[in-house]
Amino acid sequence: MAELIPLISQQEIKDKTREIGEKITRDYKGLDLVVVGVLKGSFIFLADLVRQITIDHEIDLVGASSYQDTSSTGQIIFTKQPDLELRGRHILLVEDIVDTGRTLVKIVEAMQLLSPRSIKICALIDKHERRETQLNVDYSCFYREKGFIVGYGLDYNEKYRNLPAIFDLKI
Ligand code: IMP
Ligand code: MG
Repeated sequence: MAELIPLISQQEIKDKTREIGEKITRDYKGLDLVVVGVLKGSFIFLADLVRQITIDHEIDLVGASSYQDTSSTGQIIFTKQPDLELRGRHILLVEDIVDTGRTLVKIVEAMQLLSPRSIKICALIDKHERRETQLNVDYSCFYREKGFIVGYGLDYNEKYRNLPAIFDLKI
């Protein structure tokens, strides 16, 4: 039986999301911001984060998924392209968790082809010790070194996304 060990509470998530949202609000004041969530894992974090960003901005979604196992192949396919015109605009990519960074590097490369003014990254969880790429996460809510975590959008084989807080999964 899988065991779920509480890791980050709803209150901690709420407080940190507010803090990061306020920082983004200050940093993008007067700029044309498009917040782009990466499906599916970011959907709950994205919904909470944008409600803490109090400047005008637009929201879009991109979908990327690994062919088989991201960690072994590093191959991704795009399941959804952005709908909005992103040329000349400031993109803030919102991701659930950045692990090796391979997924996001590919997404950033694809976004760069759309000629935005800038691209920055906001991650709910930053496993920065496991990074295998040059990717820099501009806004990290929480850091983790190891382990597999679920809840608040994060899944294990598509399950547990609905959990309101974040848990360590022990299988
Ligand atoms: P990366 O390409 O190695 O950075 O992997 C990023 C993707 O792997 C994330 O967007 C997640 O979908 C998934 N992932 C990595 N670590 C975890 C975890 O601890 N829990 C849930 N999903 C994870
Ligand atoms: Mg993901």
